[in-house]
Amino acid sequence: MTAICAAPTCGKETESTLKCPICLKEGITSVYCDQNCFRSTWSVHKSIHKNEDGTNDPYDPFPTYSYTGGLRAAYPLSARREVPKHIKRPDYAQAGRPISEIKNDRMGKFTILAGKDLEKIRKVGKMSREILDITASHIRPGITTDELDAILHKECVKRNAYPSPLNYYNFPKSFCTSLNEVICHGIPDKTVLKDGDIINLDVTIYYLGFHSDLNETYYVGDKAKCDKDTVNLVETTRESLQLAIDMVKPGLAFRELGNTIEEHATKNGCSVVRTFCGHGTNQLFHCQPNIPHYAKNKAVGIAKPGMVFTIEPMLCIGTYRDVTWPDNWTAVTQDGKYSAQFEQMLLVTEDGCEILTARTETSPGGAIPRIQA
Ligand code: MF3
Ligand code: CO
Ligand code: CO
Repeated sequence: MTAICAAPTCGKETESTLKCPICLKEGITSVYCDQNCFRSTWSVHKSIHKNEDGTNDPYDPFPTYSYTGGLRAAYPLSARREVPKHIKRPDYAQAGRPISEIKNDRMGKFTILAGKDLEKIRKVGKMSREILDITASHIRPGITTDELDAILHKECVKRNAYPSPLNYYNFPKSFCTSLNEVICHGIPDKTVLKDGDIINLDVTIYYLGFHSDLNETYYVGDKAKCDKDTVNLVETTRESLQLAIDMVKPGLAFRELGNTIEEHATKNGCSVVRTFCGHGTNQLFHCQPNIPHYAKNKAVGIAKPGMVFTIEPMLCIGTYRDVTWPDNWTAVTQDGKYSAQFEQMLLVTEDGCEILTARTETSPGGAIPRIQA
């Protein structure tokens, strides 16, 4: 029988019968290719085992790290979620490196989609919205980000879609969950959502040979909806994306988008993250054009019918400067203050653009009024 190697750095199919003996005792089967895979990842693997008293309490894997805010990583991460064999995978699903994307980056070409490809990416866009909405409907105080990951993963698999983040540059989970001071790329773990949090769910799926990428920020419980600064941040971010979308039509210089986003942010007392940008999305997860969200940027390119790309501004209450946790993914604000993000995937049409990942009448979340001083 073949199994997937339990080493997070491997994940290859194997006929090996080498199993973790402690897992076996706990009724779990963790198969390894060989002693090398087993030994080299033991230090992370052992954390999924129960403690001596039979519990398996979450713990902070970086106890000496100077966190910038109140959030902590809560390990162990759950075991790697599997994608059935029949689902078509992107090239990095096995080894973690998006080879086709890396090759394409060297050419710097802009892709124009037409005909059947447009039909496909429209379908994928709709499906990604459906999956985000279903997952978001489960947000409540008490649920963990890993439980949300399990829900998202199941909804992808049900539809024969591959959750694009899974193993993208070795990302360990199926989507990104970014709470409070996390700007982006939060890893679903044992963190429990609480009243007063804000959470961004960033979904990307790969289906029919295309990626579709979107995200939204949601209020958790009622407390966050009552906090003036939090509401101002989330609503300003939501509006700044819409203002940028309203500009998209053939002839638009991509560098203009950041001027509008930053102007709206500044007017409302928020700052704009500079490290992470919008991007082309099609047969590749990330490609040209590059879309900075800050003013006076030097982005290259002009919108043309058939181009597909995301705009995904990240705004902050305090500093826009980011720092990354020792997990090499989680990007947080340097001052620990809240950050929010919204992302849509757009197709440039003859006279404007189509939001391929648009909200529907039943989408959870959505704008709320600002709180007056
Ligand atoms: N979805 C993110 C974006 O909007 C990218 C996530 S990459 C991951 O571009 F590896 F962290 F999942
Ligand atoms: Co994106
Ligand atoms: Co995204």
